[in-house]
Amino acid sequence: MRATVPAGLDRKETEVYQRLDPARLPKHIAIIMDGNGRWARRRHLPRIAGHRAGVASVRSTVETASRIGIPALTLYAFSEENWKKRPASEVDFLMGLLCRYLKGEVPTLNKNNIRLEYIGRQHELPAVVQSKMQWAREATAQNGGMVLTLALNYSARSELVDAFRSMVNAAANNGGLQHLQVDEEAVKRHLYTRHLPDPDLVIRTSGEMRLSNFLLWQLAYAEIYVTPTLWPEFRGVHLLEGIAEYQKRERRYGGLADDVSQPHYSDHAKMARS
Ligand code: FPP
Repeated sequence: MRATVPAGLDRKETEVYQRLDPARLPKHIAIIMDGNGRWARRRHLPRIAGHRAGVASVRSTVETASRIGIPALTLYAFSEENWKKRPASEVDFLMGLLCRYLKGEVPTLNKNNIRLEYIGRQHELPAVVQSKMQWAREATAQNGGMVLTLALNYSARSELVDAFRSMVNAAANNGGLQHLQVDEEAVKRHLYTRHLPDPDLVIRTSGEMRLSNFLLWQLAYAEIYVTPTLWPEFRGVHLLEGIAEYQKRERRYGGLADDVSQPHYSDHAKMARS
């Protein structure tokens, strides 16, 4: 029997939600938001119009994820490469958009008990953006519901470099390098994502089949769901469709993923049987 539909879902979302098994929701969903520029181009609008429209998609996705009880959502908002590849005016616009989003959204995040976190090289962002980010994090720090992590100036390879540096520094400050212990658990403890479980589902919008330097370590076992929907058209209902596809794939392997205490059990079982 299906559990009751969470409050606040609209008609379309309710329809998709009723096909889901609430006991097997992903614990952490990561999203590569892509297609803002194409959305704008199709409408003969400047690229920044696509980014502006993308904020409504962020809002809808965050609200729906939180309403259905997803413990963690991570959004790839701004890659390290974005600095180099995009014109300065577009980067400035994105920074301003982020500041306005943080300022405007904190009351809603608090209302929904959502805690805000960041991953990426924050110290390289403009000082005014950094202080707004710190303010928003502190203003939501008491919330015990969903953790919303924004990847800003993020690169997975830089994250790994920073993790290895951090491991070496920690050992040097704690008795010397002869105490350096390198294993998977140690690497995990030094990643930006040490506050999160690995994502079990990664969604990419606008049809591209790449990970684009996003969470390369953490996505080792994640299901990948690519939708042709461009980010500015993505809404909570599309998130639910991604989760439905994720559950379909898990079911194909005989329900082994039901054991939530062992997140990688189903992967080992799949490999053993293939
Ligand atoms: C990719 O589209 C999108 C981005 C680089 C920016 C994402 C930002 C937002 C959705 C809005 C602000 C975010 C927050 C968290 C408030 P693209 O420009 O690469 O699209 P294209 O591939 O079609 O050119």
